[in-house]
Amino acid sequence: MSVDQPSPSIAEILDLSGKTAVVTGAGSGLGRAIARRLHEAGASVCAVDIDLASAELTVELLGSRAIAQKADVRDAAANRTFAQAAVDAFGRIDIVVPAAGIFFPTFPIMELPEEEWDRLIDINLKGTLLTAQACVPHMTEGGTIVNIASTSAYRPARNLGHYAASKGGVSLLTKSMALELAPRIRCNAVAPGSIDTEGGQRTAAAFAATIGAEPADVKKGYITRNPMQREGVADDIARVVLFLASPLSSYVTGEIVLADGGILLT
Ligand SMILES: NC(=O)c1ccc[n+]([C@@H]2O[C@H](COP(=O)([O-])OP(=O)(O)OC[C@H]3O[C@@H](n4cnc5c(N)ncnc54)[C@H](O)[C@@H]3O)[C@@H](O)[C@H]2O)c1
Repeated sequence: MSVDQPSPSIAEILDLSGKTAVVTGAGSGLGRAIARRLHEAGASVCAVDIDLASAELTVELLGSRAIAQKADVRDAAANRTFAQAAVDAFGRIDIVVPAAGIFFPTFPIMELPEEEWDRLIDINLKGTLLTAQACVPHMTEGGTIVNIASTSAYRPARNLGHYAASKGGVSLLTKSMALELAPRIRCNAVAPGSIDTEGGQRTAAAFAATIGAEPADVKKGYITRNPMQREGVADDIARVVLFLASPLSSYVTGEIVLADGGILLT
């Protein structure tokens, strides 16, 4: 875009109509909130989850321009199937948000069972790669990928070493993908702090148990320490994803955007 070219209005920049977004983990928490915001901006949505009923509920909430797909993101063939389903339904893929992920059970590193390491790394890290590998061949010029990292990639918490490793991997995978896919596709990530979702609540309870604390006290401690004096909500993250997925961030690629209320400043 040259300096003397008239730039589009904010409404035009944020208008995703005619575009298709594939969101994994769309049956709960961040994935559902992200699907809702992208849909509100005009995108058609392919809502993917290992729990089909939850993805179908998301589609029901969206009401139109949406399909539900059951898939385990660890399975390359399943990723290719939902990518093809999105193309069959809407003709194209423009935006990919691999939000499927797990963050428990919790274990001290030295007691972490190999199968729990494999399971978590496979869903969070390999799943992110496999979803991109399945969708990118269908993506159009100007497509965007928004991965889900975490503050855990920057500051580890006890008993969540496997999770921290998976999200550190997602952060660096994001940068590698940005480098290799530019200029056709931009790839960025959002790194949320503690967000009140079903998964977040399960992890907080498991984490509290391993340090012998009450979940409510763990949450209270986080809120007290957080400069914004609150835990995040899923829509805090969906708004950042909308920024990174839309041309509002047209010159941003390979970036990890922290959305943590400032907790890493403390
Ligand atoms: N909530 C937080 O505090 C927080 C903070 C940082 C990062 N994150 C990350 O955000 C992502 C979403 O977390 P959330 O809080 O929405 O969790 P959530 O548990 O509420 O939702 C995750 C969804 O992913 C689906 N899923 C799990 N395994 C799957 C698989 N193998 N294949 C397909 N779908 C699968 C689940 O069925 C569920 O619907 C995760 O990657 C998580 O690590 C969350």
